[in-house]
Amino acid sequence: MNIILMGPPGAGKGTQAAKLVKEFGLTQISTGDLFRKAHREQTSIGVISDYFSKFGRLVPDDFTNEMVYDYLKENMNNFGNGFILDGYPRTILQARELEYFEESLGFKIDAVINLDVDFDVLKKRLSGRRTCKNCGATFHIMYKPPKVEGVCDNCGGELYQREDETEAAVKVRLSTYEGQTRPLIDYYKMKGMLTNINGDQSMDDVYSDIKKCLEAL
Ligand code: AP5
Ligand code: ZN
Repeated sequence: MNIILMGPPGAGKGTQAAKLVKEFGLTQISTGDLFRKAHREQTSIGVISDYFSKFGRLVPDDFTNEMVYDYLKENMNNFGNGFILDGYPRTILQARELEYFEESLGFKIDAVINLDVDFDVLKKRLSGRRTCKNCGATFHIMYKPPKVEGVCDNCGGELYQREDETEAAVKVRLSTYEGQTRPLIDYYKMKGMLTNINGDQSMDDVYSDIKKCLEAL
């Protein structure tokens, strides 16, 4: 089972993907995480992506598509029960390119799940998020606090606030979402692939709705 998990910044894609990985043995492919890893390793794509990401803008399609294609091609036999695309595609051009990848690499996207959350809620979620420097796990100072402040529950790593979580960058991320990514909702609706889920519920209730959708498949 291969699925696309869509939604605005802070909608809970990473949170829900982590639950799906644990229960269903799926592999999470987060383009945001891949870019951040490339940045830490100072590869050329890492340097380029950081230039756009830190201001809240999308990395240009050509770079993003190439990175995703290479990743899929290299790992096609290691995805276990399938994969979750978290944060890709984010433009119509990326969605079209993904269709080309399906043909050339021989896989199929089974469903597109869209997490719907109001912008006011998103702002609160993004400003309170803390991410583990070591394993990438995410927490929230109010909604999912770590047991010890500033320390990851999973691995003991240090928690930090991402560079693109400043008020200015969040503003750009939300307007970029409106302009470039929201049109994908209609794109996948017209293809009959989209399930909309209310992302403004508790993490467990959102997860239970996602599970119902996947079980129906
Ligand atoms: P990326 O890392 O993908 O960021 P994003 O889409 O903005 O998503 P986030 O990771 O911020 O949020 P999320 O939906 O995963 O929410 P989370 O579960 O953490 O991308 C970063 C950048 O990389 C982009 O800006 C762009 O520059 C570049 N990029 C990536 N993909 C690209 C692409 N395809 N094309 C071009 N550029 C690309 O939850 C957020 C917080 O809320 C957490 O603290 C969590 O604990 C809390 N929370 C989650 N669910 C709930 C709930 N139900 N109730 C209460 N709190 C909750
Ligand atoms: Zn950790």
